[in-house]
Formats: sequence, C-alpha cells, structure tokens
Amino acid sequence: MDLKDQTVLIIGGATGMGFATAQLVEKLGGKVIIAGHNEEKNAKALATLSENAESRFVNVVDANTIEALFKSIDSFHHLFITAAPGGTGDFLEAPLEIKETYIYGKFWSLFMITKSAVKHISNEGSITFITGGFTTNPTKGTVLVTAAFNAVEGFAKALTVEMAPIRFNVIRPGFIDSGFWDFMEASERQKLFEEKRSKTAVNRIGASEDIAKMATAIMMNSFINGQVIEVDGGQLP
Ligand SMILES: NC(=O)c1ccc[n+]([C@@H]2O[C@H](COP(=O)([O-])OP(=O)(O)OC[C@H]3O[C@@H](n4cnc5c(N)ncnc54)[C@H](OP(=O)(O)O)[C@@H]3O)[C@@H](O)[C@H]2O)c1
Repeated sequence: MDLKDQTVLIIGGATGMGFATAQLVEKLGGKVIIAGHNEEKNAKALATLSENAESRFVNVVDANTIEALFKSIDSFHHLFITAAPGGTGDFLEAPLEIKETYIYGKFWSLFMITKSAVKHISNEGSITFITGGFTTNPTKGTVLVTAAFNAVEGFAKALTVEMAPIRFNVIRPGFIDSGFWDFMEASERQKLFEEKRSKTAVNRIGASEDIAKMATAIMMNSFINGQVIEVDGGQLP
C-alpha cells in the first residue's frame, strides 16, 4: 500500500500532526498541498518538503479564503484537517457570539471546508478530522471543546451516509507533544507532559508521527469509513 499518484491536502499542514503527516505522505509517494493561515510557517514547512509539494493560504474561519483555496486546487484524493482556532474556557464566561468560540473554529470551519472540498475530491477519496479525549472525558473549562468535538464526530458519521462513497473518519488523539503546547511556560509544560505520561499505559506521551501513521493508514485503506479512532497509547484508570 502506498499513496503513489495521490494528492493529499492538509489544512494545518505547516506544523504538528499536519506537518508530520505531510512528511509521511511524501515518503509513501504522495503529493502534498499544505494550507494554513501563517505564510511564514507555510514557507518554512514547504522548504523542508519535496519540490512537488505546494502550499496555500487559508484561514479556516473565513469562508472567502476557503473558497479561494478550493478554486486554486483542481482535484485531490484525501483531505486531513488539523487547524482549529477559537476560544475555550468556562461556560459562564463563554462569549455568546458563536464566531468567537471553539465551536466555530473547530466545527463550523470543518462544515464550510467540507462543503467546498467534496466538489473537488475523488470518489475514492477520504476526509479525516481531529477531535480529542475531551469528547468523552470533559474537565472543567472544556465545555466548548467537548461540544465541538462531539459535533465533529457526529458530522463525520452523517457525512459517511450522505456523501458516499467519499469516506469520513475521525482521529481522536491522546496527549501529543507538538507545538500546540508552546503557549505554556517551559517548566509548566514539562510538568503537564510528565503528568500525562504517567497516565498513559505505554508510558509515553504521543508524537505527531503517531497521528501521521494513523492519518495515512486511513487514506490508504478504503475500507475504513465512518470511524472514530483513538490514538492515545491506552489510558490508565
Ligand atoms: N496536541 C495535542 O495534545 C492534541 C490532543 C488532542 C487533540 N488535538 C487537536 O489536534 C489538532 C492539531 O494539533 P497539533 O498538535 O498538530 O497543533 P498545531 O501544531 O498547533 O497545529 C495546528 C495548525 O493549524 C494552524 N491554524 C490555526 N488556526 C488556523 C486558522 N484559523 N486557519 C488556518 N490554519 C490555522 C496552526 O497555525 P498557527 O500555529 O500559526 O496558529 C497550526 O499550523 C488541533 O485541532 C487540536 O485541537 C491536539
């Protein structure tokens, strides 16, 4: 199995899980288009990929840039979306303006992207979304995240029926060591990583490459459809 002659669009592909997936897609013989809202990060990532790779600008909460993205791409085989902006936090403090929330950044962005993407994707193609452990195990302050993740998982399941034969799947990662956590102060981040490691049955936290392996496996296996796949090392009680 490989991705020879397949084009893979990765939104959020300049960093983290998206970038690790871009690298693995190339190793598997595929062509990569990375898309994101930071031109500097796009250029840096593109410089380390092969000369066949391309990059595009898109801000996933801006419908105009989503339209422009798909206007610039004729056709492709697989789409993987990792980008997810938006505010989270305590329920009582959450803004009432949906555009300011994670529901919009995580769920509605996928809704808008998917609506455009299905017009360009191959019938043998796949779309993969990312959620996380808060889907089933919310903690305080994650109400918007949990709601958004559950919406995404339901969305994927329903699309599997409505947009067949295009395949839709969700990867639900455990704790992954990526730039996602760079906003934290180094010692705090280290403390968090250690706490998460101690709760993981394989005695390590995840790497972006762990998610890349699952994302490409989904692309290559045309019988994986409508699934939520946990990639979390197994969680200790
Ligand atoms: N890391 C974890 O432990 C973990 C666990 C469970 C779930 N997740 C989920 O996994 C996904 C990817 O995480 P990651 O670890 O790969 O993080 P990451 O490296 O921060 O990747 C996200 C990428 O999306 C881009 N992006 C953000 N807002 C965007 C926008 N409005 N338009 C276009 N691109 C945008 C980011 O660019 P900028 O950096 O320039 O904003 C970044 O390149 C996230 O949705 C996260 O919620 C992560």
